[in-house]
Amino acid sequence: MAAANAQAAGQGQSASGQSEAGPSGPGQSRATLEAFHRRSLEDREGFWAEQAALIDWHQPFERVLDDSRLPFVRWFVGGQTNLCHNAVDRHLAAQGDSPALIWVSTEVDAERIYSYRELHREVNRMAAAMQELGVGRGDRVLIYMPMIAEAVFAMLACARIGAIHSVVFGGFAAHSLASRIDDAEPKLIVSADAGSRNGKVIAYKPLLDEALELAGASPHAVLLVDRGLAPMTRVDRRDHDWSVLRQKHFDAEVPVVWLESNEVSYTLYTSGTTGRPKGVQRDVGGYAVALAASMKHIFCGNAGETYFSSSDIGWVVGHSYIVYGPLIAGMATIVYEGTPLRPDPGILWQLVERHRVTVMFSAPTAIRVLKKQDPAWLKRRDISSLRTLFLAGEPLDEPTARWISDGLGCPVIDNYWQTETGWPILTLAHGIEKTPPRFGSPGMPMYGYDVRLLHEQTGEEVGPGEKGVVAILPPLPPGCMQTVWRDDERFLNTYFASIPGRQAYSTFDWGMRDADGFWFILGRTDDVINVAGHRLGTREIEESLSSHSAVAECAVVGMADALKGQVAIAFAVLKDPARAASQADRLALEGELMATVDRQLGAVARPVRVHFVSMLPKTRSGKVLRRSIQALCEGRDAGDLTTIEDAGALDQVRNVLAGG
Ligand code: PRX
Repeated sequence: MAAANAQAAGQGQSASGQSEAGPSGPGQSRATLEAFHRRSLEDREGFWAEQAALIDWHQPFERVLDDSRLPFVRWFVGGQTNLCHNAVDRHLAAQGDSPALIWVSTEVDAERIYSYRELHREVNRMAAAMQELGVGRGDRVLIYMPMIAEAVFAMLACARIGAIHSVVFGGFAAHSLASRIDDAEPKLIVSADAGSRNGKVIAYKPLLDEALELAGASPHAVLLVDRGLAPMTRVDRRDHDWSVLRQKHFDAEVPVVWLESNEVSYTLYTSGTTGRPKGVQRDVGGYAVALAASMKHIFCGNAGETYFSSSDIGWVVGHSYIVYGPLIAGMATIVYEGTPLRPDPGILWQLVERHRVTVMFSAPTAIRVLKKQDPAWLKRRDISSLRTLFLAGEPLDEPTARWISDGLGCPVIDNYWQTETGWPILTLAHGIEKTPPRFGSPGMPMYGYDVRLLHEQTGEEVGPGEKGVVAILPPLPPGCMQTVWRDDERFLNTYFASIPGRQAYSTFDWGMRDADGFWFILGRTDDVINVAGHRLGTREIEESLSSHSAVAECAVVGMADALKGQVAIAFAVLKDPARAASQADRLALEGELMATVDRQLGAVARPVRVHFVSMLPKTRSGKVLRRSIQALCEGRDAGDLTTIEDAGALDQVRNVLAGG
C-alpha cells in the first residue's frame, strides 16, 4: 500500500530534494498553502474573481458563482470570453513570433514549429473550412486524429467559432467511435488517413468508415487530413480534403465568437461502470480560469517557455495540458507523435534539451518503461532547463518516483485528478509554497476543492490513517464537468448518489490521509481499471467479448501489473463448452476473442488473457464477484465469500490461473 510504504520510509532527502521527512521537510511549514486553500473555500467568490483576472473577458461577469441549483453550478455568470482568444489571439501582440506549437514526430521523422502568428493563421483557416462545411455555434465536431498539429488547429477552430469539440482517442476502434458518434451527433468529423505507432502505420479512415456504418447518426461532412501514409477512399460530397479547403481559405479571418461563460466548450467521453461511456461536459469561462490558475500556482509555467506533455489529445491531460493550459499561459507546447523509446530511450530528454523544456508532464507507465532501460540515457542530454516533472493518471509507485527524481535531479510532482475535474484535485502548488513532494503521495487538496474522505457506508468523515472514499463537496470548482452531455440525471445518479446521507461528488477512488496531511490514493471503488494510465471500463470490454457468438457470459477484471499498473484479464463461459475442448481450440478461440476487442474497442482494451470456465463466481443474487476474481488473479485471498452461490466457480478460476 502506497501509504504504508510512505510511512515506513525513513527520514531523509533524495538528490532532487524529494522529501521523505515531515510534512514540508525540515524547517518549513505549510501555512501558506493551507491558508490559500482555506480562503478558496471560505471566500469562493473573492478567490475566483481574483483568478478570473488571469484571462481576457470580452464582457465582465455579473456573478462569480451561481450555486442555487447544487450540485449544478455556473461560474462567472454573464461573462463573455473565448478559449481560442485566450489561447492564441491574446498572445499575438507580445509574442506573435514566439513558438506556440512545436510538432515533433519520431514516427515520420518530422518537426515543425508554429509561432503564435502561424498558429493563429492555421486556426483561422480551419475555422473558415468548418464554417463552409456548415458548422456553427453549439454544433458538435468530432475529432478522431493522430497526434498532428491539425488536430490542435481543429480543437482551437471549434473553440473559436463556438462549436463543441469531442475528441476521440485515436487508439479506439470502430465500435467505440460509433457509440461516441451516436451520443455526440456531430455535424462534422475531422480525421486523417492514418497515424503511426512504433513505426507501424495505423489507418484511421477505414475505422472511421466502419464506425459510420455502425452508427445511427451521420455527420453532414467529414474533413480529412491526408498525410500520405495510407490510401483513403472518399465518399462523394461527404468527405473533404483539408489541403483543398486550407488553400481556399488561406487568408481567411474568422472573428472569435464570444460565448457566455457557461456555454459548452467540449465533451470528452470517459468510462464508468456501465458499457456506455459518459460525455463529460465542460464550460468555457470556468475552464479557462481554472487552467490559467493551475498554470500559475501548480505548474509554474511562464510565457515564452516550453511545456512538454507526452499525453495524447484524446485524453483529458491532452486537452488541459497539451492544448489549452500551456497556450493560455503563453507557452510553447510540444505535440509529440511517438513513444518514449523510439528512436532510442533518450528521446524525451533529447526533446527537453532541444526545446529547453521547463515543465514536463507524463505518466508513471512511461517512466516505468524508461526505468527498464540503461540509466545512462537520463544523463546524455543537457536537461538543466527542466524545473519540474509532473506525473499523473495512475498511481505513482515509490521506486519509480525515486528513480526518476534522483535521475533527473529535479522535483517530481504526482498529481491526482480525473477527466471529470479537468485539473488536479490533489497535488502540490509550488507557485504558492514549495512543499517538498513526498514519495507515494499525490499531495494535498488543491484550492477550490473541498475534498473529504468519507466512510462508504455512513457517509461520515474518516480520520487520519483510515481508508475512505475520496469525495468532493459541492460546489465543484471552475473547470470541473458541468454535467453529463444531455443527461443531467446521469450526472446526479452517477456522481452524487453513492455517498449515504449527503450530497457529495464521488471520485470512486479510495484514499487515506496521514497525520501530516498528505493524501494517498488506494485504488478504485468501482469496476473502472487503469491500463498504462488509460481509463477503461471493464463493462465495455465484457460487452465486446459477449458480442462474440461463442460467449454466453464473461467477467473482466483488472490485475496488477508491474509495468502498466493494471492489465485486463477475462473469464468467459461458452455457449458450447466443446469449443474449448482442446488446448488448440482454446488458443484459437482466445485469439478470436482478443481480435474482437481489438476490432471493436481498440488494442488498448484487449485483455492479456481470456480464460474459459463453465461458470462465473456469483453471489446468490446473481452478482459477479469481480473483487474475488481479481484477488485470485493477484495471488491474494478471495475475501468474504459468505454470499457465494457456488464455491466451485472460484476453484475453476484458481485452476485456470494455475494453468490447470
Ligand atoms: O483512479 C484515479 C486514477 O485515474 C482516474 C482518472 O482517470 P482519467 O479520467 O483518465 O483522468 C486522468 C487525469 C490525470 C482516477 O479516478 N488516477 C489519476 N491520477 C492519479 C490516479 N491514481 C493515483 N494517483 C494519481 N496521481
